[in-house]
Amino acid sequence: MDQTRLRGKRAIITGAGSGIGRAAAIRFAREGARVAAVDVNERGVKETVSLISGSEALALVADVTKEDQVERAVKDAVKAFGGLDIVISNAGIAMVGKDDRVDRIALEVWQRMLDVNHTGMFLTCKHGIRALLASGGGAVVCTTSPTGLYGIAPEQTAYSASKAGVYGLVRSMAAAYGKEMIRVNGVMPGYIKTALTSWVTEEHEREFSKMVPIGRAGVPEEIASVMAFLASDEASYVTGAVYVADGGWTAI
Ligand SMILES: NC(=O)c1ccc[n+]([C@@H]2O[C@H](COP(=O)([O-])OP(=O)(O)OC[C@H]3O[C@@H](n4cnc5c(N)ncnc54)[C@H](O)[C@@H]3O)[C@@H](O)[C@H]2O)c1
Repeated sequence: MDQTRLRGKRAIITGAGSGIGRAAAIRFAREGARVAAVDVNERGVKETVSLISGSEALALVADVTKEDQVERAVKDAVKAFGGLDIVISNAGIAMVGKDDRVDRIALEVWQRMLDVNHTGMFLTCKHGIRALLASGGGAVVCTTSPTGLYGIAPEQTAYSASKAGVYGLVRSMAAAYGKEMIRVNGVMPGYIKTALTSWVTEEHEREFSKMVPIGRAGVPEEIASVMAFLASDEASYVTGAVYVADGGWTAI
């Protein structure tokens, strides 16, 4: 592994208190970036920072649905690092048990899902990109999902709709900021073992593993490595793309 790909880069990562965001914070720091780890869960994000050594890291508490908190987190990161080069918009929720077929979803569930998974990404990109513009360019990576593109989770309508919106956000931002040296891409994880998927039973997982070409669930580090590539200068000609990392799930 190239350990120096992100040397000198300054990154902000949302949803960094757990799962994929935590793995990204650790990976980015290992590759030389200074990392502002953001999460609504203070304990989680502090724990993430405690797992980072050898690179400067900052724990910031913010709810991505609240514009003032997102703006503050970006400003705190800029103040600490002197600017930003990378924005990882990753915070997300699933509301399994409440999310459902459309005829059964309560409006509050629908709105909460859109607030966190879609508006939260918009706000992170809005303020994060302002910081990248001030730095003269950079890279954005948004976490989406196969459920936003394919009907593979028929009982997670709100989650799927919230993630579908991320594709539009990625592509319109890629088109808008290319000439200002800002690349915007997405990553599409398949089934990754994190707190978000803790509802998946062992039996479900066995069935999934039989079906998916790679034969197992993914781990957060396997998404963090795709994010690191997309955020690095190695991906200098990649923008408006959504990289699939799903063990072949959507190839079949
Ligand atoms: N795990 C999977 O299989 C999978 C698959 C496809 C996409 N994703 C996406 O990956 C992203 C990360 O999920 P994960 O699997 O690591 O889950 P996770 O639950 O381990 O991590 C999500 C993090 O987001 C934080 N968060 C939630 N709401 C927030 C808010 N309002 N403000 C700030 N932080 C908030 C949580 O506190 C948590 O630390 C999400 O966008 C999710 O939709 C996950």
